[in-house]
Amino acid sequence: MFADKSTPALDPARIPAHVAIIMDGNGRWAKKRFLPRIAGHKAGMENVKVITKAASRMGIKVLTLYAFSTENWKRPDAEVNYLMSLPVDFFNVFMPELIAENVRVQVMGELAALPAKTRQAAAAAEADTAQNTGMILNFALNYGGRDELIEATRAIATEAAAGTLDPTAIDGDTVAAHLMTNRLGALADPDLLIRTSGEERLSNFLLWQMAYSELVFAPEYWPDFTPSVLTRAVADYQARDRRFGGIDANS
Ligand code: FPP
Repeated sequence: MFADKSTPALDPARIPAHVAIIMDGNGRWAKKRFLPRIAGHKAGMENVKVITKAASRMGIKVLTLYAFSTENWKRPDAEVNYLMSLPVDFFNVFMPELIAENVRVQVMGELAALPAKTRQAAAAAEADTAQNTGMILNFALNYGGRDELIEATRAIATEAAAGTLDPTAIDGDTVAAHLMTNRLGALADPDLLIRTSGEERLSNFLLWQMAYSELVFAPEYWPDFTPSVLTRAVADYQARDRRFGGIDANS
């Protein structure tokens, strides 16, 4: 993907406002080192700290991280339990730094299905950083794009059936207002999606919101995804011509 392995200079005026990341490859990172898969997830969590700081300092406004999908329950119990303990560890240890960085934590997903300790850690992190005005660190936890659209459809249909919503007035804004990203306001749609580990698919992530996102696939496993690789992904984004279905002004 990247021809040049050096760290390029970025145009500060065109930093993507919302970057979403599918943090893939923790298991393969561990396997390569003859370590158990959970060691890969621990290294992945450590890297969340590093990339959060780098993204905040780069001027990114929202960083959405896919931490657990609605399909990840299919993994062995021990791995699921470990993944559910990661937000607890992360917020316990990293909260002072998040506050020092002025980062605001938000968590989206089917949170009711999470273990109580995970839910409580997420709620506490949101509450403790609610006054922060810098980058929003948005964790997708037990998140699935199709489930999100099903829930939105159900809510819209319920309002229409109750007579509080005119079905002929339903438009894109109506749908967006019923999605979990609604609280991000004008920044709900990612400008840039990065997936690590060389896999090239969306895996049920932000299906509505990524209609016009630029996609960058990085070969590095997530624990090896450094701030300079992030910089190269953003440089790749800055080289793209975003037309949103239109044509260039000078075409
Ligand atoms: C995908 O790699 C990764 C996950 C399913 C979990 C991602 C979670 C983290 C990086 C830590 C999250 C941290 C916090 C603070 C919540 P994989 O296991 O599918 O890797 P593989 O494809 O190589 O097996």
